[in-house]
Order: sequence, then structure tokens, then C-alpha cells
Amino acid sequence: MEAMQAKLRSDYRAPQYTIDQLHLDVKLDDHATVVTATSQVIRNDADASQLHLDGDHLTLRSVAINGNALADDQYQQIGGGLLLEADLDQFELTIVTEIDPANNTALEGLYKSGGAFCTQCEAEGFRRITYFLDRPDVLAKYTTRVEADKAAYPYLLSNGNKIDSGDLAEGRHFAIWQDPFPKPSYLFALVAGDFDLLEDNFITRSGRNVALQLFVDRGNLYRGEHAMASLKRAMKWDEQRFNLEYDLDIYMVVAVDFFNMGAMENKGLNVFNSKAVLADPQTATDDEYHRIESIIGHEYFHNWTGNRVTCRDWFQLSLKEGLTVFRDQEFSSDLGSPVVERIDAVNMMRSHQFAEDAGPMAHPIRPDKVLEMNNFYTVTVYDKGAEVIRMMHTLLGEQKFQLGMQLYFERHDGQAVTCDDFVAAMEDASGVDLKLFRRWYSQSGTPVVTASERYDASAGQYHLTLTQHTPATADQADKQPLHIPVAIELLNANGQAITLVSDGQPVANVLNFTEAEQTWVFDNVAGPVVASLFENFSAPVKLQQQISNADLALIMANGSNDFACWDAGQRLLTNEILAIVDGAQSRGSDLLLDAIRQVLLDERRDPALIALMLALPTEATLAQQRSDVDVELLHQSRRQLLAQIGQDLDDELLARYRDCHDGEYQQHGQAVGRRALKNACLFILAIAGKATTQELCGRQFAEADNMTDRLAALNAMNQGQLPAVTDALASFEAQWRDNPLVMDKWFSQVAMAPKGDVLADIQVAMQHLQFDIANPNRVRALIGAFASGNRNQFHAIDGSGYRFLTDQLIELNAINPQCAARIITPLMAWKEVDEERQRLMKAQLQRLAALPNLSRDLYEKVSKSLA
Ligand code: TRP
Ligand code: ZN
Repeated sequence: MEAMQAKLRSDYRAPQYTIDQLHLDVKLDDHATVVTATSQVIRNDADASQLHLDGDHLTLRSVAINGNALADDQYQQIGGGLLLEADLDQFELTIVTEIDPANNTALEGLYKSGGAFCTQCEAEGFRRITYFLDRPDVLAKYTTRVEADKAAYPYLLSNGNKIDSGDLAEGRHFAIWQDPFPKPSYLFALVAGDFDLLEDNFITRSGRNVALQLFVDRGNLYRGEHAMASLKRAMKWDEQRFNLEYDLDIYMVVAVDFFNMGAMENKGLNVFNSKAVLADPQTATDDEYHRIESIIGHEYFHNWTGNRVTCRDWFQLSLKEGLTVFRDQEFSSDLGSPVVERIDAVNMMRSHQFAEDAGPMAHPIRPDKVLEMNNFYTVTVYDKGAEVIRMMHTLLGEQKFQLGMQLYFERHDGQAVTCDDFVAAMEDASGVDLKLFRRWYSQSGTPVVTASERYDASAGQYHLTLTQHTPATADQADKQPLHIPVAIELLNANGQAITLVSDGQPVANVLNFTEAEQTWVFDNVAGPVVASLFENFSAPVKLQQQISNADLALIMANGSNDFACWDAGQRLLTNEILAIVDGAQSRGSDLLLDAIRQVLLDERRDPALIALMLALPTEATLAQQRSDVDVELLHQSRRQLLAQIGQDLDDELLARYRDCHDGEYQQHGQAVGRRALKNACLFILAIAGKATTQELCGRQFAEADNMTDRLAALNAMNQGQLPAVTDALASFEAQWRDNPLVMDKWFSQVAMAPKGDVLADIQVAMQHLQFDIANPNRVRALIGAFASGNRNQFHAIDGSGYRFLTDQLIELNAINPQCAARIITPLMAWKEVDEERQRLMKAQLQRLAALPNLSRDLYEKVSKSLA
């Protein structure tokens, strides 16, 4: 039970001892890897006499201080860790441990992925390699000697520079790596395996040559080209936009098949999920190409925001993650389409982060209480964290924000610091008061901002009153007003923005909203205006504004700001879907259909944006707007509206489809946008279920020369439940059964079929040769896609979806707790559904709670869900 004790942010204490140098000697073996760790330990706190080291799943062989082996009564093994008598100011500590990588299915610490050894140490995995001060505020310089069989593991890699290597007896060899930068243990990495190596180089702006090496499974070299090109773009962009240059002479990326997340920023040796690296037109979609570029960027950007300046403790995780997500978003935006990037981020916030705030795991971006750290790599810490950085960027402007970044590095390079340190640097460098703004770090929940507006024709004035209120969350009852930047435009009857004037002076279009209620008055307003609020989603809030559907349609079709057009469209679509749900409307209005027609026919608008405007808010997003909506009714109403759009606008959709369905495949912005629009049209036509669409889908599926088009056709058939889908799925499986990453798309199609007997198909798919419950990619593609991507079937009223997910969670609990805890989310959201479903969901949560060996990861989520 001791292991189930939560940690509090307020309990932080500086470490009593630190380690400034570590030499690791790792003799690799499947079941008996021997690790010798030699640490230089320094006592910080003169009163301390006992050293506690973290440890987990380790077999201790020996421990020595200054070369003298400790007797049995000089140390204790407690709770996985090690407690030593150490009444010394400085000493050398040598610990020999043995570990079993081949049986490590948790994929944390040192484990085997296919034929290779690899590590994952963030957050607290290093303690599965050796006993250590496994906390981010202990920074040491590492040297690592790796030894293994040469034939099976020709490449031996670790952080930093290779300083020696050579052959040994019995077919073994070794390599020694030295990392000149002090780092916390979570950034340690070691890889040994047989790979193909893609090599390139980058000349930094100061003229240094950096060797770039990408290690992939044999035969996959050409699939690494896109990741390598993305890396070079990221390195260049970080120099140009953030003035940050790479600091080692080598940068390595290794792709592995078994990995719990997307990728990991280990110093000089990133480890990536192969899904986040490998791409070629035949096997990867445009979305995946984009995701790879963004993750490659993300991990690279961590080298400064995360590695050079790291977190003092894990409660500060958003210090590096929120900031690095902000940076990767800006990278994608600068290199691609800003509005498309922004819409992607906003969709993520509205569908997932708002739901997290409304559920049992609600927490501030800087949590106060953590049971299992792995449970806090969340959309709140990452994506809301990035929104908080973005708000500072909005308040300061690019120039002052960059001054803040510069000061942050001047002050903290080489340190482990807090979120407060970051905000202080921003504040000090810019002179902008962020005192109240800091509340975004400590307060959880999604603020609701209500707007009331008044136009005074005689005075030519427009009055805007905003009130803010954050509903209580599971973790925090009391909420206070936040400093909310409100980006505003006032649109005239033609949908065009007017100049903002207040007290005779032109004013900036960002309002500082800091109190529970505030009013602004704008002058020189010649006629009635419509306020477009929170443009570009200037704050992560929900907006309540009385605005007519006619005005929304006007902005959607004619607004001057692309984001505002999209957002107005989303609001209009939401209104209409909910009106159908309520029975207030039986179908979509002419107003809506006309607006969509205009958007569809607009030749000047970016096709990628039109595609996004044709996408209805997801069921998950809609459920956040109105938590009392019946699951099935919501699903049917949304689908009905989509089908109607397909029927009423079939000529326009078909024309756009044909127009964009041309030319040779190319992997660049414009072609990607045209494919997106084409496939958005096809999707809507398929939902409408026209006979002609069947042929269109069939032809595109058969003739496509790229995965984006092939999968889009398959998905349209599947979501439309067109008869041809059965054969298409079979032929897809026949073509790709040997490629697990492509088979993941097939697994997801199976899982997301909108049909009552989908679980039977999923059970069959689980017997497929490529399915492996120990591989997180497979689990997410099949089980995760069902639970989070097939909302209507997951919530089937017979409880079969809940039972199925729970059966899988019970199995995964014993195999990979992190992976289990990541796919339980839909089962926690019982507040979103009716009483009968709530009862069924809780019964399954109870089943988990009763497990004798429930992991900490699941325990934390299950107990919060039932609280
Ligand atoms: N720090 C990594 C990132 O954001 C993610 C990460 C955290 C991770 N914990 C992990 C990756 C566990 C793999 C496994 O880029
Ligand atoms: Zn990250």
C-alpha cells in the first residue's frame, strides 16, 4: 500500500545528496543484463547520514562505497529502493544490479523491442536500470560502456559522443559513449541492435558540422527520408526563429516498434516509435507525414526546452512540454498553413482537453498531486500548457516573447527549474505584468466566458460586457478569475472588420480580461456590428454569446479572418445538430446549406481550409457542449445532418471532388490540401449513401497511387457502410498483412465501423497474425480506436463495449500498465452519459478496482473515477 501514496507538489525538498558523475557499464543479455553504476556522490545537506536511492524491478548483486563492499547491515532494500548509511561529504558509490530486459513488457527502463535493446527512462524508468537519485533535479555527466554480442547487435549507442569501441572475446564487442552535458537520469538512453543507417549532416549557423544518423529496421531506409528532411528543417527553424543552435557533433534517432508514446528526447539519442518516423507514399497518409514532421521537430526542440533547461520536479512537466508543444506548433505553422495548424490544435483542445477538465482526472497544467507520474503526460499538461505559453506570446508579442526566452536561457541554462522561473523570465524581460496570469498554472478547469453586447446607435458606440466563471472541477472546488486575452474583431454587415477605437484612440485587438466582469466601449461604430471573439482561440475557454445563426452564416461565408470563418461554421453546425437532437428542427436549415454551398464554391479559399470547414464537430466535442445529450440520438442527429448535406449539395461536392481528383501524387502543401478537400467531399457523399458514390469510392480505392487516397476511400465506404466495404477491407488486408504499421490502419477501420456487431469483428481481428497485445501501437489501433473513435458502439446500451474494454484492460494491466492507463479514458467519462450507462460503466470500473494486482497507473484513474 505504500506504493499507492500520492506525492504533493508542496512537499518538494532539494535533494540531500547529489551525483555529478556517473559511469555506467552495461553488459547486455536478454534475461541477465548486468549493470555496474559508479557514481560520484556529494552530500548537500550536512545533517544527512542516510542516502535513499530509487529502484524498481532490480536484483542487487553488490554495493560498495569508495571500493569497500557494504556489509548486510549497512544497507536496506525498501519498497524497491535502497537505503545506505552514508555519513560522508563525498564518495564513490559502486552498485552492481541485474535486470531482465526480455521480460520487461512495461516498456519502461531497459527492454527489448523486436530484436533490439532500447531504453525509455522518462519519467521514472531509470530506476529500473540501476539504483539512483532518479529525479530531474540531480544532473550528472554520464559515460556509458555498452557491451553485447557483435553479430546480433552491431550498433551500440548511448548519449553524446563515442569515445572508444572494440572487439572482445566470444564474439562480443563494446562501445564507450561520453555525454559532455550534465543531464537528469530521465534523459539517459541506450540502444543496441541491427539497423539500416540513414546518414546526413547539418551545418549550424556558426559553421559546425553535425552528423545526423537515423537508425531504422533493415529494409526501411527509404522510409526514413521524410524524417531526416524534417529534422534538418527543424534545426534550421530553431536557429532562425528562436536563435537556438544544436550543441553536440552528432544527433541520432532510432526507430523502434515497441514504444509507449510517440518519441523521446534523450540527449543526442532520440528514441522514436517507428510510427512517428517511417513514411513513404504507399504506406503513410498526409496526416502521418505531417505528424512525423511535428514530432521530429518536437523532440529536437526539447534539446533546449527540456534538456539544456530541465524540470526541477515532475510537477513542473509543462515547463518543458507546454513550451515545446508551443514551439512545434509554431514550427508547423511557419512551414505550413497557420490556420490549418491552429484549427488542429483547437479541435484537440475542445474534444479532449475540455473533456479532461470535466472528468475525474481534472488537473491544472502544473498538477499539485500525483500518484503515478506517467498518468500526467496529458492533453492538459501538453496542449493546454501550450495554450498558456501561447497566451503569454499574445500578451507580449513575438519580440518581447523572444527577449523572455533569451533571458530564460541566460538565467537557467544547465539548471532544473520551475514554471514560475519561466514566467518570471518572461515578465522581467518584457515588463508585462504576469502576476495574475500565473493563476493559469494553478487553476484547473475550463472557464466559461459569457458575452453581452449592446449597440448604441445615437452615440455610435458598441458596448461589450464579458463575465467569466470556471465551474468546479473534480480536483478543485473554488475558482478565481483568470487573466484572459480576448482577441476581438467587430464585423460590419458585410462581415468586414472595422477599426477599433476607444476614447478617440485606435486600440489593439487584444483585450485584457482580468476580472469576473468587465465592460469595454468602442467608439466610431457606424452601424450594428457582430463581435468575433477569441479569434484564433486566443484563450482556452468556452464562449457563450448570443449570436444568430444568420450572423454565424455570414461570418462563415464572408468573414475576413479564416479562423473566425471556420469557428463560426463550427458554432452554426453545433447549433443545428443540437436543434435536431432537441426536435426543434427536423433537418439542417437552408441558411446552413447555403453557407456551406458558398464555402464549397469559393475558388479563392484554401482547399485545406474548406476541407476543415466541411468537417462536423465530433461527437466528443458536441458532448462537451451539452452533457445531457443521449449518445445514440447525438450520433444519429449528427449523421443525419451530414447525410443531408451530401444529398442537397451532391452536385457541388461531386464537382469539387472531380476538380481536385487529378494529377500525379506529390507530397507538398497544395497537393495535400487538394487531397484533403477531395476526400472530405467523398466522405460526405458516402454518408449520404448515393449509389454513384459506391462506384467513386471503389474506383479511388482500387486506383489510388498513395495511402491517403486509398485509406480515405476505404474509410468513406466504412463510415457510409457501403456494401463494397467488405471486399475492400479484405483486399487491403491481403495487400498489407506483412506490414504492421499499415495493418494498424486496417485494425482501426475494423474498430470504427458504425455497426451493431462491430465487437464480433474486433474479436476476429484480435486473432490476426499481426495483432499483439504487447505492442502499444496495435492496442491503440484496435482497442483504443474502438473505445475513443466509435463512441456510439462503445456506449452500446447492453454494456458490451464497456465489458470488452475492461476485459482488455485486465489483460493489459499485467502486461503494460502505461498502455492500459492510456486507453481507459473513455470508460472514465461516465458523467457524459445517462444513468443506465453510468451504472454499467461504474460496474466495469468496480471490476477493475477489485483486481488484486491493480497497477498504480490504473489504480489512480479507477479510484478517481469511482470517487
Ligand atoms: N517526453 C516525451 C515527449 O514529449 C514523451 C514521453 C514521456 C514518453 N514519457 C514517455 C515517451 C514514456 C515514451 C514513453 O516527447
Ligand atoms: Zn515533449
